[in-house]
Amino acid sequence: MKIDVLLGLQWGDEGKGKLVDVLTPDYDVIARFQGGPNAGHTLEFNGIKHVTHNIPSGVFREDSINIIGNGVVLDPVIFKKEIEAVKDLGVDLGIRLMVSRKAHLIMPTHRILDAASEAAKGITKIGSTLKGIGPTYMDKTGRNGLRVGDIESPDFKKKYDFLTNKHLEILKQYDFEFNLEEFEIGWMDGIEAIKSFPLVNGEYAINKYLTEGKSVLAEGAQGSMLDIDFGSYPYVTSSNTICAGACTGLGLAPHKIGRVIGVFKAYCTRVGSGPFPTELLDETGEALRKYGSEYGATTGRPRRCGWLDLAVLKYSIMLSGVTELMMTKSDVLSTFDALQVCTAYKINGEVSDELPFDIDTPLEPMYEELPCWSEDLTGMTEKEDLPKELLDYIVFVEKEVGVPISYVSVGPDREQIIKM
Ligand code: GDP
Ligand code: IMO
Ligand code: MG
Repeated sequence: MKIDVLLGLQWGDEGKGKLVDVLTPDYDVIARFQGGPNAGHTLEFNGIKHVTHNIPSGVFREDSINIIGNGVVLDPVIFKKEIEAVKDLGVDLGIRLMVSRKAHLIMPTHRILDAASEAAKGITKIGSTLKGIGPTYMDKTGRNGLRVGDIESPDFKKKYDFLTNKHLEILKQYDFEFNLEEFEIGWMDGIEAIKSFPLVNGEYAINKYLTEGKSVLAEGAQGSMLDIDFGSYPYVTSSNTICAGACTGLGLAPHKIGRVIGVFKAYCTRVGSGPFPTELLDETGEALRKYGSEYGATTGRPRRCGWLDLAVLKYSIMLSGVTELMMTKSDVLSTFDALQVCTAYKINGEVSDELPFDIDTPLEPMYEELPCWSEDLTGMTEKEDLPKELLDYIVFVEKEVGVPISYVSVGPDREQIIKM
């Protein structure tokens, strides 16, 4: 068997969580491969709205096995809270949730370092979610990190203290006040919570499932434009969010990748700092935020909004070898008279659909105007119900990017989905 990968093609929050939940009945195993609690994946079903951060979005389907892969950075405090919240909804994960021993732990001092580093950057700050993501991945690549498997070692506390002291030394360079004890509350309890689940050698577990003929879906976090290598550096996250990240984040050979499902919003949003070519700083942007309820699922911050950017979409499709697309939030656009779609940029007087190296390069988006639909899509269930203008929008995007759209989402609930 091959593994299918679902990932975001813009700046995150494309609706990945909802679509993983929709697709989970078709899979035996759901695996997160990168990122950590900077992610906020919203699921809505039976009148319940739930946001997952560290755990895979397959947890609410009774038979699914869920794996937190080695590429993930795990916050024990948030993990414990998530497990309790899921339990409150009547789901006991038991042995259905496994954690890779090679996943790295976010320590209290990683969160402090994140906050100190952002504060020191002033107006050049990344707009980090302040969950300790950057410092944890820095310790991973710096070969200092604390891993989930270390929990099982009798030296765990010693390792924890050693690294904490190292961080406290680094923090002396910052003019930043903090109370370590406050950040440490619940951390060791969280470690006990992690311990109560099977800790596995995730790379063996995943490959064994595939050999046994089980179907596996890899769930991406963030979006391709936040990728550490290919996003708008330095305004990015600290992991590889593209398809290659599923190989390194789970221990998979590239030829084991099957379908690559790219999720995108019918428009664009971004939360945090950094370039956003089609951003609308006017009443149209405000309308997108209002009708799309565009506020961060993790931090509650208002999301920046703008029109669909096909240059970005083509770039992300190229980087991940996307084989099919899923479009979300088409229902939000019903309120507009006409739609603008960016097909290329004018860069120094030349037309190009290639993203430049230098993020400060002035880009003038070039738009094509398309007619909009006015029908309320939220109750529609069949392709045949969809208005002509939306079907034209779909065909236009498919033609431009060369990849078919397999599902269109018309609302936040798991039932609000149309197979094309
Ligand atoms: P993720 O991080 O990619 O999982 O996305 P988020 O959960 O952060 O943000 C997506 C938001 O849009 C959530 O509030 C979802 O409930 C909501 N959503 C997902 N699909 C749709 C859709 O088709 N229409 C509308 N109106 N909302 C949607
Ligand atoms: P999901 O999985 C949207 C953004 C932050 C910030 C930058 C770096 O829900 O799509 P970090 O905390 O990683 O150091 O922040 O990346 N960011 C996200 N934006 N959705 C996310 O995840 C994000 N995760 C990080 O706002 O600009
Ligand atoms: Mg999100």
